[in-house]
Amino acid sequence: MKPSIYITRKIPDGVLNLLQEQCHVNMWEEEDIPVSREVLAKEIAEVDGLFCLLTEEIDADLIEQAPKLKVISNMAVGYNNIDVQYAASKGIIVTNTPGVLTETTADLTFALLTAVSRRIVEAEHFLQAGEWKTWSPMLLTGQDVFGATLGIIGLGRIGEAVARRAKGFNMNVLYHNRSRKREAEETIGIQYAELEQLLKTSDFICVLTPYTEETRNLISYEQFALMKNSAVLINTSRGGIVNEEALYQALLEGKIWGAGLDVFEQEPVPLDHPLLTLPNVVAVPHIGSASIQTRLKMAKLAAENLINGLYGKPVKHVVTE
Ligand code: DGY
Repeated sequence: MKPSIYITRKIPDGVLNLLQEQCHVNMWEEEDIPVSREVLAKEIAEVDGLFCLLTEEIDADLIEQAPKLKVISNMAVGYNNIDVQYAASKGIIVTNTPGVLTETTADLTFALLTAVSRRIVEAEHFLQAGEWKTWSPMLLTGQDVFGATLGIIGLGRIGEAVARRAKGFNMNVLYHNRSRKREAEETIGIQYAELEQLLKTSDFICVLTPYTEETRNLISYEQFALMKNSAVLINTSRGGIVNEEALYQALLEGKIWGAGLDVFEQEPVPLDHPLLTLPNVVAVPHIGSASIQTRLKMAKLAAENLINGLYGKPVKHVVTE
């Protein structure tokens, strides 16, 4: 008998077909509205597998309501939206989609880095508002990227991909990570630094560590105080890693130069959020992995993880912590 699954958002037809060939499928049909918790709780009670997104909070309460559930497949590399420990205690496999979004997310990280440092968004608004009267020597001047020092916090796959891009800009690359990555140090040409040292010496700081209890508020008032006044902070990981009040204060008081943010503590970020009032912030709506090719790969990988898990085949991307 085919297993039954619930998909929490409308997914591309090709991937949906793949799942329908192997499973009985129920799907939340909206593209841009997340399924409500009530509907999810009702649907999850009946199924063997769940295909979900980072917008769904799959906590112990919800898992409790899913007596048949065997596999939770998250269409994301991050899985802080799932209580993995609780799922494991119930014998439920949790899977994610690493690898396929690495380069795309590194591209966006670098796009934000250059956008903030060269004031691209501000300059575009300036032009559109008809304020461009003439070329002048210091008009809309920013910070150089070429030859600057980049500090990467969290040297996973995406961190390494950002480091490789940075070398193309002749940057001096430092990284901080739970463990030393000696192979990457040699092959890419980067150096390990303690967090304090990295914060003090970097011109650009990219936050790329996973969001855990340990990394919540990792970058807060104390850390901003260490940074250069000309520093640019980029966060393409998860919102809670950078304390947003501290970031706002740091930007307002000129303790740092600017910030590029793809992620927020609350998503969608409220439109009256103080950070959105600052001209030196470039904010985008969690689009790190949003290329057509990559999102299709993520959806397909999430589907394969789910099918393999449900059919007792080896699953490549089981989340263990
Ligand atoms: C992820 O996969 O965790 C990203 O945040 C979304 O692509």
